[in-house]
Amino acid sequence: MTTPDQTTCTTVILAAGEGKRMRSDTPKVLHPVAGLAMVNHVIDTAISTGSDTVAVVVGNQAERVEAVVRGHSDTVSTHIQHERKGTAHAVLAARAVIEKAGGDLVILYGDVPLIRSEAIDSAREALRSGCDVVVLGFHTAKPTGYGRLLTDGAQLLAIREEKDATDEERKVTFCNSGIMAFRAEHALDLLDAVGSGNAQGEYYLTDTVEIARERGLKAVAIEVPEADTLGVNDRVQLAQVEELWQQRRREAAMRDGVTMTSPGTVILHHDTQLASDCIIEPNVVFAAGVSISSGATIRAFSHLEGATVGEGAVVGPYARLRPGADLGKSTKVGNFVEIKGATLGEGAKVNHLSYIGDAEVGAKANIGAGTITCNYDGYNKWKTRIGEGAFIGSNTSLVAPVTVGAGIITAAGSVISRDVEADALAITRAEQKNLPGKAKQLRERNAATKASKKLDGSSK
Ligand code: UD1
Ligand code: MG
Repeated sequence: MTTPDQTTCTTVILAAGEGKRMRSDTPKVLHPVAGLAMVNHVIDTAISTGSDTVAVVVGNQAERVEAVVRGHSDTVSTHIQHERKGTAHAVLAARAVIEKAGGDLVILYGDVPLIRSEAIDSAREALRSGCDVVVLGFHTAKPTGYGRLLTDGAQLLAIREEKDATDEERKVTFCNSGIMAFRAEHALDLLDAVGSGNAQGEYYLTDTVEIARERGLKAVAIEVPEADTLGVNDRVQLAQVEELWQQRRREAAMRDGVTMTSPGTVILHHDTQLASDCIIEPNVVFAAGVSISSGATIRAFSHLEGATVGEGAVVGPYARLRPGADLGKSTKVGNFVEIKGATLGEGAKVNHLSYIGDAEVGAKANIGAGTITCNYDGYNKWKTRIGEGAFIGSNTSLVAPVTVGAGIITAAGSVISRDVEADALAITRAEQKNLPGKAKQLRERNAATKASKKLDGSSK
């Protein structure tokens, strides 16, 4: 027998299910919430509660699920449940891990991604205060389909599955979330004692409660909010879970000092980093890999991905930052500007209607409206370098590879395809001609043409 060591924790995550109601070729637990596969949220929560061993039980499309969970965390082991014979049978697929477990054993579900580490902590505290089996339960107005928690005061007597329950038991509204914690020293004996003599002919994890009581062990149920135990069975529930996740994360950001003027319209990614005192205006979407520094403002309707925004920078409205956009302190990126794979030095401005891709923009450079870096020749991407304090005139095309020095000016409308040395003026447009009276003459000629077409009925 292993020595119980209350400081260690082993978590088994059940992720073998088919998830038919998702109507998807993708295994259910791989559907993303805030851009991260559901099962990986559960792994992160397990790790944040101090689990030193995390075992994921896979079955349906096992190889795909294994690849995703192993790619997420190299401390995770995977175990295949070849046949689906119930939740106890699924947990036992990780027998090798449970045999070695000391301390606490926690069972989580790969399709219940909102479970909070605080709930797991409270279950583990109950183990430490003398309980042997702990179940997280919730009260609900719609208990149909859930296992009912049959209690006597603080004691948990049994969990009755819907299909095995009497009418009286079905009236109980305190339900099993599915999440359980065991003192690891008893877990294997309890699991091995579970039989399949029930309405579904399955090995129920929930039967461990009655078995534990028969053996004089102590079982309790701890109540958690229903929302934290939401399971995903179909895409409607996936959207509900996504919305709850977003709400939680927005609230956490606001409590950490982020201003959101219309939080319900801001979409965060699981890895979005928002420093205190940044301001996020309505309808901003954060895709993967965005970090916003203190004092920055992201104005309405901007879309950011793989971007770093420096202190005090202002982005948008209607800006698009793509992977590799690195905006320095106090930079400005205005409306209808796209930045990709480009650094903007401190105080640089790209205020209107521009594409800056694969570029280095020096500090305090001013990029005029409509400037385009022509970075792609159909085969390769090339770099544009713009020196400090450069003034790029409106509607300049910078044909990469090209380097323009510090303090240069390009005349509006220029196509710059050769390097420009520091402090030079570059201009590449045809000289202007003014033809006196010519506009009036053209108008008169065009009006006459229109009138003659009307006369012979050939207009339109
Ligand atoms: C289970 C509980 C029920 C609880 C409910 C909460 C049991 C017997 N019942 O019921 O008390 O109220 O969850 O949602 O535990 N799985 C496997 N392999 C299997 C069977 C299940 O990996 O052989 C996984 C499923 O993919 C799922 C989880 O375990 O993630 C729960 O299984 P499910 O069939 O949904 O159990 P329920 O009948 O909902
Ligand atoms: Mg279920």
